[in-house]
Amino acid sequence: MLPFLRTEVARLKAYQPHPPIAEPYDQLDTNESPVDLPEDVKATLAQHYQQTIAANRYPDGGHGALKQAIAAYVSEAGARATADNISVGNGSDELIRSLLIATALNNGAILVASPTFSMYGILAQTLGIPVIDIGRTDDFCINLDVAQTALQENAIRVVFMVHPNSPTANALSQDEIEWLRQLPSDVLVVIDEAYFEFSQQTLVADSLSRSNWVVLRTFSKAFRLAAHRVGYAVAQPGLTAALEKVRLPYNLPSFSQAAALAALNHRSALLTEVDIMMQERQTMATWLEQQSALVPWPSTANFIYCRLSTKGLAQLGLDQAEGLHHVFSHLRQQGTLIRSTGGGLRISLGTPQENQRTRTNIQTILG
Ligand SMILES: Cc1ncc(COP(=O)(O)O)c(C=O)c1O
Repeated sequence: MLPFLRTEVARLKAYQPHPPIAEPYDQLDTNESPVDLPEDVKATLAQHYQQTIAANRYPDGGHGALKQAIAAYVSEAGARATADNISVGNGSDELIRSLLIATALNNGAILVASPTFSMYGILAQTLGIPVIDIGRTDDFCINLDVAQTALQENAIRVVFMVHPNSPTANALSQDEIEWLRQLPSDVLVVIDEAYFEFSQQTLVADSLSRSNWVVLRTFSKAFRLAAHRVGYAVAQPGLTAALEKVRLPYNLPSFSQAAALAALNHRSALLTEVDIMMQERQTMATWLEQQSALVPWPSTANFIYCRLSTKGLAQLGLDQAEGLHHVFSHLRQQGTLIRSTGGGLRISLGTPQENQRTRTNIQTILG
């Protein structure tokens, strides 16, 4: 170990990004959109780059035009937001780190409920912030008694919830939402709505009316901009101002800001893909339910989570962990990349053709 490194960093395993993948793979492991931007939107962006962006100049460090456009988009769902309610990050990953720096660094712990998005824990660890993980019940809900006890016994500064959760695809229940609403004002509630466009369920009204709530969203999923790394936070101005203080000055390149603006300007065309994905989700869910070797859970997102059934395990002669590894690695050999995480398999929905190939490949493995 390098003697000048912090122990937490030396011990940490680096996040393993999506490996570079050769063409024949179906990439169903990161919940991206399976469809690229339409040609005309790409052409508009290319033209914008040539005619408007000065490569020698720093980007707009205040994200003025983008914040206004995001506020208008957020307001379409009912609650009225202005640019002051928005902070923009280099992916919502950056906003998660900014929130941690602004709240729990040297100041307390965070609460998560696994299986959930791993970056909350990973980023907290890089900052030396303790992570209290309360787990989930068999149907992936939060045990509210366990959550309440964790809150009483630890100096929790932030509670992270995904709505709908990844990898399990369930939205927060009304009881869970009510529990979050009664948390004291010195605990920040982070609602990560990375999959909002698929679930159409939002708690933005809470983030605008409560000083200790923030909603995170991303352009990496339904808006098809994973390559551009744009995420945003919606909160009261007191919190967005704090996020502006801790971020890097020019955190979002000019081209990414232009891409997010173009995506918002073309949103009705881009989001038509969501309807196709939802039909695909129905087809995939029905098919998975018919497979006696698998137990899928209902999904409100663009992915489906499943485990092997007792019958499936008996058929393979393996325990759950071995069985999941078997299915994951055989699917990979056949050209379908999914995610094995949290004791289950998370299958992102792809194009109709990719989804059909996935079903065929699963059938080959499980009969
Ligand atoms: C729940 C959740 N939040 C945040 C992110 C990261 O989004 P971004 O690409 O904006 O950093 C992801 C990515 O998979 C996610 O699943």
